[in-house]
Amino acid sequence: MVTIVEIGSTKVVAIAAEIGEGQRIEILGLVTADCHGVKKGAIVDLAAASRSVDSALRHLAQDIGRSEINEVALVISGPQLEGSSVQGFKPIIPKNRAITNQDVMEVVNHSKSGIFPPDRVLIQTIPREFRVDEVRSVSKPVGMSGAKLEVISYMVTGMANHVQNFEEAVKMSGREVEQFIFGPLASGLGVVGQTDLDKGTVVIDMGASKTDVSIFVNGALAHSVCIPVGGNNVTNDLSQLLNCDFDEAERLKIGYGCAFADGISEKEAIEVHQLGQPTARPMQRKVLCEIIESRMKEVAKLIRQHVEKSGYGGVLEAGVILTGGATQLPKSKELFSAALNGMPVRIVEPNIKNGKPQVGLAAAIGAISFVLQTSEDLSPISKSDSWQDRAKGLWSMFSGKN
Ligand SMILES: Nc1ncnc2c1ncn2[C@@H]1O[C@H](COP(=O)(O)OP(=O)(O)OP(=O)(O)O)[C@@H](O)[C@H]1O
Ligand SMILES: [Mg+2]
Repeated sequence: MVTIVEIGSTKVVAIAAEIGEGQRIEILGLVTADCHGVKKGAIVDLAAASRSVDSALRHLAQDIGRSEINEVALVISGPQLEGSSVQGFKPIIPKNRAITNQDVMEVVNHSKSGIFPPDRVLIQTIPREFRVDEVRSVSKPVGMSGAKLEVISYMVTGMANHVQNFEEAVKMSGREVEQFIFGPLASGLGVVGQTDLDKGTVVIDMGASKTDVSIFVNGALAHSVCIPVGGNNVTNDLSQLLNCDFDEAERLKIGYGCAFADGISEKEAIEVHQLGQPTARPMQRKVLCEIIESRMKEVAKLIRQHVEKSGYGGVLEAGVILTGGATQLPKSKELFSAALNGMPVRIVEPNIKNGKPQVGLAAAIGAISFVLQTSEDLSPISKSDSWQDRAKGLWSMFSGKN
């Protein structure tokens, strides 16, 4: 059994799962609890964050009939994390013998042996592609023969203090972090299918206070970015510009909001309860949607710039996948498609409980499939005391999805 925890800005998600019959992932328990002490994806109150983690894990343990859950894999995201492509190399001696698991581990280790600034720590190294002699785009080199094994990996590092604070929040609750999972990778894995991975896709997970963007090319994570803006920024804009409190702004957004104001009649009226006013006053729904549209457009435009800068814009045949609560706004698909040069867009939320899509759980569900598949693949070589040592590579995580 593995347990993952995601400490979000508004909620902590805790999931326990295992590989069941037919190698299928079986979710044993899933709990969401209110999260306190986290703002804009960073911990601002350790004790409060730790209590939120404790509460989620106690409930989860109860739900699955265990007395304790002591070790977790922690999903981590934020602009403090960065990924870049790195290369590793290993000669195979004697020449042309079959490549082993150990060779693969060593070449992945070599790819992450480069130096990075002392204020950063390694989170994950995710192989993108192996090369055996002149053969490129090898996904599983074990068993192949050659004289030279190469790997291109996506290496993720994070600001040490940011990462340590998340680890500390778990430790203060009396548990250990076994490994970190990179949030944008997890969000992507929670919603992509094999065809998306093969054809190339960009996943946009717009949550409460951040938007994780991950680009998958040739079956692997090739690029990612975290934009520190989410649905709560939309609500904050509304609360400021309409002079109402956050809860009222959220009510209006969810009840009447739309990502595009075009097409909404100026005659359509809604009622807003403004601060200090005894009675609600009428306003045009169109104005509400114009405020929403302008913030959503800003996020979409930033994403377009990142996609263009990544150089992968032309190879994302499977288009765009939207996930996360903030993309539930009507016309989100249309807004992102227009901003991303007409790319096809669809909304996907993971299907887990009673066949009902679960909004805002892509990262937690993706992390579960990542951890279960890598622990299967890497169990003989992942014995180590600290998660830092286990910031490990993997090579067959994408197999068997769908
Ligand atoms: N129907 C809806 N229409 C518009 N926005 C919505 C809707 N439902 C939820 N949201 C917004 O989605 C956001 C929460 O989404 P989600 O649950 O994905 O966030 P999170 O994962 O907790 O946050 P983060 O990823 O930033 O840590 C909130 O800003 C909320 O206002
Ligand atoms: Mg989220």
